[in-house]
Amino acid sequence: MTDQSALPARRSWLRVQLWPKSLAGRTALVLLTSMMLAQAAGLAIHALDRQDLLILAQQRDAAVQAISLYRVVFLSIQGQAAATLAGAEMSEGVSAQLERDPPVTEFQFSSAPIERQFRADMLLVPMPQAQRPSEIAILGGPQKEAFVVGFHMPDGAWLNMTISMPTPRPWQSGNFLAAFLLMTMVAAGGSMWAVRRMIRPVGTLAAAADALGRDVNAPALSEGGPTELAAAAVAFNTMALRIRRFVQDRTFMLTAIGHDLRTPITRLKLRAEFVDDDDLRARMLSDLDELQAMVSATLAVGRDITADEPATRVDLVALLRTLLDELSDTFPDRAEHLSYSGPDTLPIHARPLALKRAIVNLVQNALNYGGVARVRLAHGDGGMVNLAVDDDGPGIPEERLDDVFQAFLRLEASRNRETGGTGLGLTIARNILRAHGGDVMLENRPGGGLRAVVSLPI
Ligand SMILES: Nc1ncnc2c1ncn2[C@@H]1O[C@H](COP(=O)(O)OP(=O)(O)OP(=O)(O)O)[C@@H](O)[C@H]1O
Ligand SMILES: [Mg+2]
Repeated sequence: MTDQSALPARRSWLRVQLWPKSLAGRTALVLLTSMMLAQAAGLAIHALDRQDLLILAQQRDAAVQAISLYRVVFLSIQGQAAATLAGAEMSEGVSAQLERDPPVTEFQFSSAPIERQFRADMLLVPMPQAQRPSEIAILGGPQKEAFVVGFHMPDGAWLNMTISMPTPRPWQSGNFLAAFLLMTMVAAGGSMWAVRRMIRPVGTLAAAADALGRDVNAPALSEGGPTELAAAAVAFNTMALRIRRFVQDRTFMLTAIGHDLRTPITRLKLRAEFVDDDDLRARMLSDLDELQAMVSATLAVGRDITADEPATRVDLVALLRTLLDELSDTFPDRAEHLSYSGPDTLPIHARPLALKRAIVNLVQNALNYGGVARVRLAHGDGGMVNLAVDDDGPGIPEERLDDVFQAFLRLEASRNRETGGTGLGLTIARNILRAHGGDVMLENRPGGGLRAVVSLPI
């Protein structure tokens, strides 16, 4: 029994091999195949034409040979015909004998046009009319690969000859193969070059889309080139402009609300001071503090998004060291709980202030909720760097690992200054890192504690 399961795998392997994945590969393959087919057809037509000409030439050759031989025998001394024939020079594939009867072969075929042509070809050899044979029998032909010709001699005998005529093989010519290969190579080179040139803008468009994903303010695409590509570039630039406006409008709205809320909150705080009930006043003031903190954080998010900080070459290691030093200065009692391990230098392309803000949020979370912050840096796959921030805290329940990235979501009920703030830290961090073309994820470490994993393009 054959192994049926091997069949589909084999088929898909074949498809992968024969049908390239890239657009350039596919276009080049289709172009090349059709060009080779067209060339093969052209060369075949040419070869068949050439074969017809070769057959005509062979036939003329055979007619001239036949009548020449006849003339030699005709002009021989009386009674010496047989000896003359025996001594006559004959080319390869020609045999002749003197017989009593006209030639008979198993193939009595000879078509009228061929016979007419053969007789006309025999007139090419100059000879007085009186010497020409009185009767000629022509049998065979190119299809039979031989002519059988009989000349009636004046003495009544027949000079019968067979001239073999192998069909010429047009494909055997060395030039044919060389011409085919040369034409194919020239066509292949030309089409590869043209396809590459035409496909290049698709790559540019993909790169522009990728850049836009990382940075809404990425430079616009050039709108030159062929009409279709120019139209695609214009459409892409318009789309980028709309996205930019959309983001700006949303951010503007967010900051406007945040800004406008500040005055009523301050007013409410002043009024709350006049509440007589001490307990109620304290709770109202605490709620208002919380509200104020949220508004400030919202304004900060707006500032982050709208800030047009340019991306430059930054040494990520230097940035991490500065950030850890600053945190040690702010929390001297926790300085020994902050550590860094990894390379001594790692330049990347980034907006340094935004990136620092994102990482500070993660390190501060580790310090606040996990007691320590161990920062590790390493090269990752595919031109990315990996940054991990580990702590020894309680971690986060598995099902909530992604929820904490939502704005204003805190797992801890209190909003006291000691353990944190508004629940925007992770939202901001993820926003900034994604705008850099990277991301951040949280995972619980097997030995306890939380790990924030950051990936960033170099
Ligand atoms: N390392 C950690 N260990 C345990 N829980 C964490 C850790 N990091 C974050 N969390 C949980 O996720 C919640 C959201 O974190 P996030 O940083 O977004 O806000 P926050 O720290 O509460 O406030 P802030 O806006 O000041 O950062 C936190 O309230 C906390 O409950
Ligand atoms: Mg935080």
